Amino acid sequence: RIAGPSGLVIFGVTGDLSRKKLMPAVYDLANRGMLPPGFSLVGFARRDWEDQDFAQVVHDAVKEHSRTPFREEVWQQLAEGMRFIPGDFDDDTAFDQLRDTVDELDRVRGTSGNYAFYLSVPPRFFPKVVQQLKKHGLADAPEGAWRRAVIEKPFGHDLASARELNSIVHEVFEPDQVFRIDHYLGKETVQNILALRFANQMFEPIWNRSYVDHVQITMAEDIGIGGRAGYYDGIGSARDVIQNHLLQLMALTAMEEPIAFDAESLLTEKLKVLKSVKLPDDLGKHTVRGQYGPAWQGGAKVRGYLEEDGIDPNSTTDTFAAVKLGVDNRRWAGVPFYLRTGKRLGRRVTEIAVVFQRAPHSPFDTTATEELGQNAIVIRVQPDEGMTVRFGSKVPGTSMEIRDVTMDFAYGESFTESSPEAYERLILDVLLGDANLFPRHQEVEESWKILDPIEEYWATHGRPATYPSGSWGPKEADEMLARDGRSWRRP
Ligand code: BG6
Repeated sequence: RIAGPSGLVIFGVTGDLSRKKLMPAVYDLANRGMLPPGFSLVGFARRDWEDQDFAQVVHDAVKEHSRTPFREEVWQQLAEGMRFIPGDFDDDTAFDQLRDTVDELDRVRGTSGNYAFYLSVPPRFFPKVVQQLKKHGLADAPEGAWRRAVIEKPFGHDLASARELNSIVHEVFEPDQVFRIDHYLGKETVQNILALRFANQMFEPIWNRSYVDHVQITMAEDIGIGGRAGYYDGIGSARDVIQNHLLQLMALTAMEEPIAFDAESLLTEKLKVLKSVKLPDDLGKHTVRGQYGPAWQGGAKVRGYLEEDGIDPNSTTDTFAAVKLGVDNRRWAGVPFYLRTGKRLGRRVTEIAVVFQRAPHSPFDTTATEELGQNAIVIRVQPDEGMTVRFGSKVPGTSMEIRDVTMDFAYGESFTESSPEAYERLILDVLLGDANLFPRHQEVEESWKILDPIEEYWATHGRPATYPSGSWGPKEADEMLARDGRSWRRP
């Protein structure tokens, strides 16, 4: 898969995402030979930079964050196609300059009019940027060429704002020109969920309510909010992670087999899951939110959320959220999906655990030994990419003692190929016009429909519970599962 003649324009090029992910991803793609020789990168921001200054910033970002080795000849070829446009989003001259630059790059680099515009900017600027692209003739592709818009989350704050945002974007771009980034879908292990389920015969027959007891999806981070107070406060963990990443993981885990591996069929099946999601009747009992408090973590004293720079000391923003959801269909009726995410938890780990019912009967005398766990298939999304299957096995010896064991599949052991970084994969897909791994606006809206009532409930019911940094969240989250006779896995 190699992109054809094209260029990428990044708005918000001075931001963290651009430096840590986008610039290195572009370089890595070039280094792997997946970009055409004349590929061009244009930065747009409110800085007094010349092209060389921008190239220097990209250079430093690449040196620090790229996955592949630095090769001078690859860099030189890429750097020759770098341009910088200084300007505000409402600066007409800057957008005229952008149009002239695109024309110039078409001539000197052969980009053929094919451009993706990456909006790595806070959502309040989306309307302005897309309107400016329209006004300055950048949104409409010349004959035979394409123009695409890439949009970063958050896609709104709730259903109403997401709808508004979608309608503004769709005034300028057709739905198939818009690529919404959910970088979890760019992760190898997430794409592997479908391979695992639908390229094999042995999982699907048991992947349903007859055998599955419940599903746990965890996305835990050990870091706090770092320097992101401005973005995070008032948003919180549920909007930041559950609305997008975790509901996407849930949809991939629960969906039916798509009729083909294409964007339309994937959308159809994921959407069916999202539309079937059922909220618990008692949100007070089956949802929990928390906020990290100060504690010692990894040998260092860390601040609580309320003491972080830029956070309102009375903030009720959640940094941990756990919710119990159902999927109202024949396959999943009665099977709870527990989703949880949090900052400053015990360790960084994302996993999907499909936990099976206990064997209905045992001919063995297990009273003398420890209780067996439930069988489980755990998809280890990160950082130990792979899969674990847990089951009971006879302990070697003269008695029939059974103990839990695991069988592991690890990417590092099974493959010599290295995984591309999520953004690398997604940027390449944008340039190729492959929309499989991008949520459509219908999915975004359905996800807000799930989250909105929970957020509304929380907004009128007290404060999040405090949990010590480095723990696994507030005790209320454990109680939530204990009431169902279950417990969270300790990854
Ligand atoms: C982002 C969230 O979408 O995902 C961040 O906004 C979070 O708060 C990040 O830290 C985690 O991504 P990853 O790929 O490191 O799990």
